[in-house]
Amino acid sequence: MFVPVQINRIVSGDGGRLIRADARGPLPELRGKVQAVYCDPPFMTGQKYVRKRRFGELGWEKGSPQLQVHGYTDRFPDADAYSALLRDIAVNARDVLTDSGLFMLHLDWRVSAMARILCDGIFGSGCFVNELIWAYESGGRASRTFSRKHDTILIYGKTKDWRLDPMAAGVPRSIRRRSHMKRGVDEEGREYSIMVSGGKTYRYYDDDPISPGDVWTDISHLQQLDPERTGWPTQKPLKLLHRLLSCAVKPGEEVLELCCGSGTACAAADMLGCRWTGIDLSEEALVTTALRMEMKDLTLDMPVDPSDAALQGSVNDMGLLVLDAFIPPENAVFPPSAHPLDPLEAWMTGNLRDGVFTVRETFRRTLQHPALQPMALLEPDAGDPAVVCLDASGRAHAFTLVPERE
Ligand SMILES: C[S@@+](CC[C@H](N)C(=O)[O-])C[C@H]1O[C@@H](n2cnc3c(N)ncnc32)[C@H](O)[C@@H]1O
Repeated sequence: MFVPVQINRIVSGDGGRLIRADARGPLPELRGKVQAVYCDPPFMTGQKYVRKRRFGELGWEKGSPQLQVHGYTDRFPDADAYSALLRDIAVNARDVLTDSGLFMLHLDWRVSAMARILCDGIFGSGCFVNELIWAYESGGRASRTFSRKHDTILIYGKTKDWRLDPMAAGVPRSIRRRSHMKRGVDEEGREYSIMVSGGKTYRYYDDDPISPGDVWTDISHLQQLDPERTGWPTQKPLKLLHRLLSCAVKPGEEVLELCCGSGTACAAADMLGCRWTGIDLSEEALVTTALRMEMKDLTLDMPVDPSDAALQGSVNDMGLLVLDAFIPPENAVFPPSAHPLDPLEAWMTGNLRDGVFTVRETFRRTLQHPALQPMALLEPDAGDPAVVCLDASGRAHAFTLVPERE
């Protein structure tokens, strides 16, 4: 029999950490330890955003999202309330950074001017590093303004001794800019331009990388059916975050993503061999990020209340646990399901001790394996055997296993 239970934390390793918290709250355990903080907060758009996700075996087979549930609300009573959020976030970021660390604040035209003034005040204008423009082509065209086709990423150093290595994202030297110069090809076939100055001849090879400018035009928004899409609204491209962070951090260093949503900076930090922490107010965002990281090697600090969902199944004499059905909470808005496990996107076996669920095995739907494996071998371990289910709307539900009475 499965009995709903409260848990506070899910642990599958100590590589990354996800915390359900307000980005305004202090983070004493990270103070002075973080090399890069990336934050992509709400932009004061006044909108409500939905999370789109595939549903059930058929949905994962077809590949298109059928389930639309609330994602997050980007509404503020007034500009003062919004600017208070940004101020608290910037103060928090400054607090956790190392002396050479960088704060990267991702915004758009609505609030970037306000944020620049705020951050100049908090970090000092001498610590301003860049106003990076990410320009893209997606979306409609405006008739009364020039079409607004860029986001702004403000970058500040904790101190004037910030560390940024733009050459880590070096771009090939442009041939066009040097078209007035003489051209040549060396013995290895490499093309170059020639400049003569002070009696000396300089060669500039076309394929030598140079430091990138502060306007990036070669990274597009995610397309509707982009395999990278998690369904979290306003998800940013991994390529953007990978490039940005590759210039700011080295393997083993700590990255913090505030307002992490689907955890794009967490994913980039992971690829770069960094330690990472993602913070968001929303349970659904953290579940989206955890699934994106395949629930591997992470800690999810997220209290989960006893659920009014139900799990049905049994454990046989050999210790084989078989799930028969997941009955979603009453307020869930799932499409009709063909299979009783359709409302589940993933589930985990493990052990529960003092509110900490330690994951033993994770089963999740993927495009390659749309069906959810319903069986797992339970092995005796420390703590009580337990199961955590992640439903398709991004909610978590925890159950302990209690032997059936005769
Ligand atoms: C623009 S989205 C982030 C998208 C993310 N960069 C991605 O690639 O998926 C903004 C996020 O901020 C979160 N959020 C809003 N207010 C917050 C707050 N005060 N503290 C923490 N997270 C917050 C929302 O839940 C939402 O996930």
